[in-house]
Formats: sequence, C-alpha cells, structure tokens
Amino acid sequence: MKENKIEIPVKVYAYEELSEANRQLIDKAKEMTYHSYAPYSHFSVGAAALLANGEIVCGSNQENAAYPSGICAERTTLFYANSQYPDVAVKALAIAARNESGEFIEQPVSPCGACRQVMLESQCRGGAPMRILLYGTQGIYELAKVEDLLPLCFTAEDMAVE
Ligand code: THU
Repeated sequence: MKENKIEIPVKVYAYEELSEANRQLIDKAKEMTYHSYAPYSHFSVGAAALLANGEIVCGSNQENAAYPSGICAERTTLFYANSQYPDVAVKALAIAARNESGEFIEQPVSPCGACRQVMLESQCRGGAPMRILLYGTQGIYELAKVEDLLPLCFTAEDMAVE
C-alpha cells in the first residue's frame, strides 16, 4: 500500500490586497447577489466571469417552487457565457454570497459539486486554466484552476480509448 497526498494551493487575500482586476470581478459578483431570486433558501449568490475577450458576464442563483428546477449562480453565469461566446475561454470566475440576514458570508463561498463539474467542462472548452475567486468577508480564496476545487476529477479524457 502506498498513500498519495493531494495538495491544493489556495491563496488567501484580504480584499485590499487584490489586484484592481480581481477586485472588479469580486465587486461584480457581490453586486449580482442583489439580482438573485432565492425566495426559498434566502441564500443569494452572485458570480462574474472574466472572458478572454475582456467581457465580464454575470449571473445569480435562480430558484423555483419545484426546487430542483432552480440553478446556482455559477452555472447561470457559465452557461450564459458559453452560450454568448462559445469560442471564448473563461479566464476567471468570482463568486460571492449573502445569507438570509442579508450579510455577505464570512468564510469564502463554496461552490456545489455540480457547479464544480460545470466549471471543469467550461475550462476544458476554453483550453486554458480558469482562476476561481471565492469571496468571504474574512478572506478571499484564489485557486489557479478548476481541478484545485475538484481533485481526481472526471473529464471527457477519461473516456478516451487508449
Ligand atoms: N447556490 C449557488 O448559487 N451557488 C453555490 O455555490 C452554492 C449554492 C445556491 C443554490 C440555491 O439557490 C441556494 O444557493 C441554496 O443552496
């Protein structure tokens, strides 16, 4: 038996330490939490994607009385970005969330498994690493690529015939 350890590099920033471009993306994600439709969970999530052509595409979570029909902010944003600009890579995705008291959450927001998988597909399509910025009032996590959020991930390559 052999034990493999997987290390995930996570940079932790205070808001003031972020670059102007990263701050702008985080600000957009925060702003988008006010466009969220979350009458059931009261958890308002916003996301902003920076594309390789310089465009910023934004989205928020959109819930539904039939709960599974709702969709997270990350998927709203990436599906929209990939629909509008099918051949343009997403270079970075920022995510922010407010809880039911209306406050931005303290710890960096943690995307669900389905969104991580969709981020991975979007990154594969783009052919370039997608940086992830997770906002929390106590710190912002930066991950260099989607695999850092989804170790041992499954992609189309895993189905390729050798
Ligand atoms: N949600 C997101 O939009 N993104 C996340 O990263 C976590 C969860 C949404 C889904 C649902 O509308 C609400 O937050 C509560 O789960």
